[in-house]
Amino acid sequence: MAADTVKITINGLTYSFSMGDNFGQIPWNETLLDTLRNRLNLTAAKKACDEGACGCCTVIKDGDAVPSCMQLTADCDGSSITTLEGLADPVTGELSELQKKFIEYNAFQCGFCTPGIIMTTKALLDKNPNPTEEDIREALSGNYCRCISHYHVLEAVNALAGRPVDLDKKWEGRR
Ligand code: FES
Ligand code: FES
Repeated sequence: MAADTVKITINGLTYSFSMGDNFGQIPWNETLLDTLRNRLNLTAAKKACDEGACGCCTVIKDGDAVPSCMQLTADCDGSSITTLEGLADPVTGELSELQKKFIEYNAFQCGFCTPGIIMTTKALLDKNPNPTEEDIREALSGNYCRCISHYHVLEAVNALAGRPVDLDKKWEGRR
């Protein structure tokens, strides 16, 4: 296939990628996940299952949460991509309210699931700032977490949706 150029806006910066099989070019079959991690050093999105089943590689593409391991970089021409690295304030580095809420609620344990869970949550809240518990569970159904953090994530997202739990009461006598 002839060399071509693919333009993608990632976290507000527009990149032009030369596509092809020559040195320095991006192969047509390279995934967005590999381009993010290996070429741009945006390593928040994790490669776990690499087959669209776990949600660890989730990024936001044109407003939708998508598994970046299932997207070809070539197919993202003209798209706008947001990764976890794009959530903090680019000038001050201050974390977004979403990230702060996850910290407040201890809604994380391993570093593999959490980036994808946060990006799925962001896509949900951008579209629907007041999701129901059912909306939240449905949105996060593709993000697998095998630890107790799953319950803390639900609490954090419920808090973002306006249904906070009393953390002082919850942790009374335990911290
Ligand atoms: S690594 Fe992409 S869904 Fe699991
Ligand atoms: S946060 Fe990774 S298994 Fe729960």
